[in-house]
Amino acid sequence: MAAVVIDGKKVAEEIRGEIKARAAALAREGIVPGLAVILVGEDPASVSYVTAKEKACAENGIASFERRLPADTPEADLLALVEAFNRDPAVHGILVQLPLPRHIDERKVIAAISADKDVDGFTPVNVGRMVLDEPCFLPCTPAGVIELIRRSGVRTEGARAVVIGRSNIVGKPLMNLLVRRSINATVTVCHTGTQDLAAICREADILIACAGKAGLVTGDMVKPGACVIDVGVNRVEDLSAKSGYRLRGDVDYEDASAVAGYITPVPGGVGPMTITMLLANTVLSAERRLRGDHA
Ligand code: GUN
Repeated sequence: MAAVVIDGKKVAEEIRGEIKARAAALAREGIVPGLAVILVGEDPASVSYVTAKEKACAENGIASFERRLPADTPEADLLALVEAFNRDPAVHGILVQLPLPRHIDERKVIAAISADKDVDGFTPVNVGRMVLDEPCFLPCTPAGVIELIRRSGVRTEGARAVVIGRSNIVGKPLMNLLVRRSINATVTVCHTGTQDLAAICREADILIACAGKAGLVTGDMVKPGACVIDVGVNRVEDLSAKSGYRLRGDVDYEDASAVAGYITPVPGGVGPMTITMLLANTVLSAERRLRGDHA
């Protein structure tokens, strides 16, 4: 039987409806949630993400404060801008688009973001809170993956989950979220040093590919009926496309969907969820400030 296709656009729309209602409730208190977005340089993928974030803010009752800086911006100037947004009461969330140019110390910049405005959930303080299961901002892509799984009715209690990839942004946070009691999966994390990846994947009731390698997961690596979540967004050359490339996930979709029980497409799976969770975190930050919950 063909897999159920998890429609990320539809789930994201549902959540955006909830976000709009929360933003409207804040507006009645005289508060407009505000997101500051900083982009350094002109990396084409980053430019398109940042543009999409600004559009999503405008559509959902969130003010966006955008700064596009040249690629040779000194690190000190970027840190000063982050500090200015930390102090600005109209700003509830700060996002510095990654990757940053090589002359800038990414860790230093991320650590400079106030934990109470870190809607990406990347600061060491928020990562620590996430691991300890304390109130925090969850990183957007992993939080989006969890919401997709939950809202699709996939059983997680006692499930075996395999995560392929150990990045700070996706793999490691997913490992932490999947073992929470509210999810209760048993988690294995695979990476470039993993031996016999296919055999480990075949044990997975929930298989999450976030390795950044196009077509890595083939049908023979999928347990029949498993839920396959594809986080990969790889640009592969396609001369028949206007842009000269097309987006391909980490999963061989045709092959895997013949075996899986549930599967996310690329595009239209995890992608729409990431920005949605960013909007949700920004609204949450404004709500927390209103309640006086921030440190
Ligand atoms: N670059 C790729 N993904 C992300 C993300 O989720 N947040 C930021 N700030 N940069 C990114």
